[in-house]
Amino acid sequence: MDTWTEGYVSDIDYTYGYYPDLNPLRVRLAFLNSGLAFPQVGTACELGFGQGLSVNLHAAASTVQWHGTDFNPSQAGFAQEVAAAAGSSARLLSDAFADFCNRTDLPDFDYIGLHGIWSWVSDANRSLMVDFVRRKLKVGGVLYISYNTMPGWANSAPVRKLLTDYTASMNTVGEGQVSRVNSALEFVGKLMAVNPAYLAANPQVQQKVEALAKQNRNYLAHEYFNRDWSPMYFSDVAQWLGPAKLSFACSATWLDHMDALNLTPAQQTLRASIPDPVLSQTVRDFLVNQQFRKDYWIKGPRKLSGFDQAQALRQQRVVLVAHRSEVSLKIKSLVGEADLNQSIYAPVLDALADHQPATLAQLESKLTGKGIGFGQLVQATVVLCGLGKLEPAQDEGAAASARRCTDPLNQWLLQKAQGSAELSYMASPVTGGGIFVGRIAQLFLLALGEGINTQAGWVDFAWKLLSAQGQKIVKDGKTMETAEENLAEMRVMAQAFEQKQLPVLRALQVV
Ligand SMILES: C[S@@+](CC[C@H](N)C(=O)[O-])C[C@H]1O[C@@H](n2cnc3c(N)ncnc32)[C@H](O)[C@@H]1O
Repeated sequence: MDTWTEGYVSDIDYTYGYYPDLNPLRVRLAFLNSGLAFPQVGTACELGFGQGLSVNLHAAASTVQWHGTDFNPSQAGFAQEVAAAAGSSARLLSDAFADFCNRTDLPDFDYIGLHGIWSWVSDANRSLMVDFVRRKLKVGGVLYISYNTMPGWANSAPVRKLLTDYTASMNTVGEGQVSRVNSALEFVGKLMAVNPAYLAANPQVQQKVEALAKQNRNYLAHEYFNRDWSPMYFSDVAQWLGPAKLSFACSATWLDHMDALNLTPAQQTLRASIPDPVLSQTVRDFLVNQQFRKDYWIKGPRKLSGFDQAQALRQQRVVLVAHRSEVSLKIKSLVGEADLNQSIYAPVLDALADHQPATLAQLESKLTGKGIGFGQLVQATVVLCGLGKLEPAQDEGAAASARRCTDPLNQWLLQKAQGSAELSYMASPVTGGGIFVGRIAQLFLLALGEGINTQAGWVDFAWKLLSAQGQKIVKDGKTMETAEENLAEMRVMAQAFEQKQLPVLRALQVV
């Protein structure tokens, strides 16, 4: 019987996700946009890194010295293998928080990241982490924390309770985790089918239950079936973090910086009437029915003067990480679908279309005469980052030195793509983080690395590998059954890869 798990799901692999919000290089722009001084991040720590793809991509692609822990030894073992493949200095341990937080061989940190941890552990573990942050986060250091939020979970939290109660009471010993998840979901489906009064009072729950049934079982097991699961109000999180001397800095979700995209004018006016920053955030969560928050907290916030803010913003480097033709100027937000202002966004995107990093000062000068004010340029930058089309870029020296680790890591990832589609990210020394590259594109890159230079050659290379393993392309949920269907689909992919994806990957120094 496991004793180290503390009720945490451990008998099913966690997904191999990459979370760019954990990239400390993102802090600068978010803080500058909020008028706050930001730390130079030299040392960073991730608590509960899962399979460790995020921490490894961040460690390989930057000069930041990373430390981290995850008590699941299979996951920590995988993370250590990735760090060894990159040759990075990331120190990734398999300690429980109780042991890790009390180690005496850790440096003080400029940045501590907790993604998908806070809501899934006990109060005792939350206390350990707060105490760790109190002792080990430097003055001026930043905590990134994400968590399930109230009131967004108010009507569907009972479903999670029912899933775990059903599992505790009905499942047979030795039943696998996937089967347990399936049985519990099936039971909740049966309950919904007999129209319980709970559903009549919370009709949105039907949609939630249907969405759950479609999700990856490994993800569901870790997200819903742990012993501990506590969505929290922002004000409660603020109370928890107070003893570590932390103040809320700003959201790590770029688009949440833009009230006009999320709140109606009347809602904005209501919020503006609330002087207390904590109450203001809690009220905002009611206005948008927030389910999940991703925030930066800081030990000692300091306001920048308007002059210093503008100067530092002008030095901010950004890079276009999507092909120019793939960037739509439509945006969906909580207040409806909107068109981004063509006369601002199109010139900004055109100026970045070569995928070379540029500072906002360089962009400002390129855009002279286009009638775009600096404030509008900053706003467009933040919105395009929020849409995943731009990323902050690190300076050239750091990018050049990161390549020593990103090249071997990317080679290792390409080798893994031969047998699995699980690791769909690669490291960019330009952005200091990961970039999505699906398995087929990874196989095309592998072919390219072997000197095959034509689309037909890449398709042939990829199909030989897939067909030898009995694997087929799945498009929009439908499996391509015949060889001809698979080849036809891959020819389309190869064309898009060469025209749109490869130039971006080259500019981002992924290849
Ligand atoms: C929901 S997962 C999130 C993983 C990762 N941060 C991510 O977002 O992909 C939570 C992780 O915390 C780890 N964990 C839970 N309790 C822990 C503890 N007491 N000590 C160390 N790790 C723990 C689990 O093994 C799991 O990998």
